[in-house]
Amino acid sequence: MNRELVNVVPARRDDLMAIMGLERSGFREVEQWSERSWQGELLGEGRTVLIARSYHPVGVIALQTVDHTADLHRLVVSPQHRRSRVATQLVRAGVETVRHLGARSVILEVSYTNEPAIALYQRLGFEQLAARENYYGPGQHALILKLWDTSVPVTVTEEEEE
Ligand SMILES: CC(C)(COP(=O)(O)OP(=O)(O)OC[C@H]1O[C@@H](n2cnc3c(N)ncnc32)[C@H](O)[C@@H]1OP(=O)(O)O)[C@@H](O)C(=O)NCCC(=O)NCCS
Repeated sequence: MNRELVNVVPARRDDLMAIMGLERSGFREVEQWSERSWQGELLGEGRTVLIARSYHPVGVIALQTVDHTADLHRLVVSPQHRRSRVATQLVRAGVETVRHLGARSVILEVSYTNEPAIALYQRLGFEQLAARENYYGPGQHALILKLWDTSVPVTVTEEEEE
């Protein structure tokens, strides 16, 4: 495992263009969020948007906290920086932030074909809560995953914590 050292910091409004670059690098055109959607994440109530910086932004996570639950809306890491624990660091920092905002659990939806994301989330302690048929369109099913307890540290391995 090659762990990349990044700074995970709150996103600023002027990160929008960099976030759109990450968005385009991570999702097929039909799946991409618009600038307007990302502006909603950056400005909306109860939102947490964190950027992983390694000089330039290399990853971003967006969550929304409502009462005791947070929704993980989006996570993307630039293709050149994947498998270096960047997403792990973003999820860990995101969970820590929403815990401070009062969230006791985190839920998310992921396409049942998105094997990298499912592997990541399960490795970080998310469990399958439900499956939603045709959630993203005909034949495009989603899994609903849940991290039950935000007070338990999000880790990949004990070795990684050293
Ligand atoms: C899913 C995604 C965010 C993972 O980012 P990442 O920085 O590469 O993930 P990490 O390096 O932190 O991975 C941690 C662990 O997750 C699992 N994992 C991550 N990517 C994987 C892959 N492609 N295949 C299998 N397991 C994977 C592994 O267990 C990995 O540990 P390892 O590298 O020691 O085996 C990234 O692939 C991505 O941006 N994909 C496109 C956007 C997307 O699908 N986002 C999620 C839905 S919103």
